[in-house]
Amino acid sequence: MPFLRLDMDCAIPMLPYGNRFRKCRKWVQDSFSNVALLTYRVKQRRETNVLLKGVLARPEALASHIARFTQALIMDIAYGHQVTTDDDKYIEMGEKGNHAFATAGSAGSMLVDFFPILKHYPTWLPGSAFKIRAINAAKLLRTMHDVPYNEIKYQLKHGNPQLSFTSTLLDSYFHDGKFGTLTEQDEKDIKGSARTLYSAGTETMASSMNTFVLAMLLYPNVYRKAQEEMDRVLGLSRLPELEDRESLPYLNAVIKETYRWLPPLPMTLPHMSSQDDVYNGYRIPKQTLVIGNAWGMARDENMYPDPESFCPERFLDLTNEDIADPRLYVFGFGRRLCPGNDFADSCIYMVLANIIATMNINKTR
Ligand code: HEM
Repeated sequence: MPFLRLDMDCAIPMLPYGNRFRKCRKWVQDSFSNVALLTYRVKQRRETNVLLKGVLARPEALASHIARFTQALIMDIAYGHQVTTDDDKYIEMGEKGNHAFATAGSAGSMLVDFFPILKHYPTWLPGSAFKIRAINAAKLLRTMHDVPYNEIKYQLKHGNPQLSFTSTLLDSYFHDGKFGTLTEQDEKDIKGSARTLYSAGTETMASSMNTFVLAMLLYPNVYRKAQEEMDRVLGLSRLPELEDRESLPYLNAVIKETYRWLPPLPMTLPHMSSQDDVYNGYRIPKQTLVIGNAWGMARDENMYPDPESFCPERFLDLTNEDIADPRLYVFGFGRRLCPGNDFADSCIYMVLANIIATMNINKTR
């Protein structure tokens, strides 16, 4: 991403393959290992309860409750910061950064990505709005990089910060010496990786949760079946937990269909070929921008007949062994595959299962 790379080269998806990428990728993968996922369960339960209480009190603000769930959870994991108020300053920073990034243009969406010479275009000339937007976005992102990081660094020196992605990494440098001496580049990479967790994880998860609600409004029979399964399996005396997932096949089919029906990143994220290649008779020269079309895959009529319909039953049809689980493509591909995929999937399960167990979804009129 030639232009924005100037200020955002610490975001993991922007890093070219190499040592820095491998280092940051490993940090993130370790923070979503199976052991780490177990430690996040308490946080997932806590934030699910906050979401349920919020929706009961103000159902009309459902989308905000969903957004808050994803933001609060990732703030906690990335920075050990627990959100307790509606005007949380970390969330405000994170959202401003996300918004700025989205409006500045994502990778491959701007002319400058294809014509790098445009990055030298002067800001005083007409048509330079793209550059001014990118400069402003970079400023907001830098705030998001620096403020939480500096607070944790201060706490590490003067007290005990909450356990988090950032504090664990800093601690490994300061106390265990596990990673050697902390260089300026390492600091940039820790900040960038923590911020990537926030920008990569919040809106994507919220998108799937909102898609589910939309689908349930349009397909009330599906919701009824999911509720019947929930009541049959769990009874009415407790809320669903992650351990219940295997006993809820219909809900699992609903989750798969939610990903397939509206993938949160329909064009995933652009990759660049690292060497010349040939695919299906097409020559792909080195350094070609390659875009994985999750939307196209999700609408493959041979795989998913009547693809526009929301039909979880397609995943329960045991005679169709070839039907692909959409999680094989909505989370991306190869060594760039989303490292938060299992965590995201478990959060989406928790929210959907708990809404199904406790609430009805109806149109207001
Ligand atoms: C439904 C939720 C999510 C979806 C659909 C999703 C999807 C994706 C996709 C398509 C990519 C690009 C993969 C590629 O380049 O092939 C990606 C990358 C990434 N995702 Fe997710 N994601 C979700 C949630 C999360 C969460 C919760 C986190 C962490 C908190 C996360 C962290 C990342 C990171 C760090 C990358 C960059 C990986 C790299 O470039 O090596 N994602 N995600």
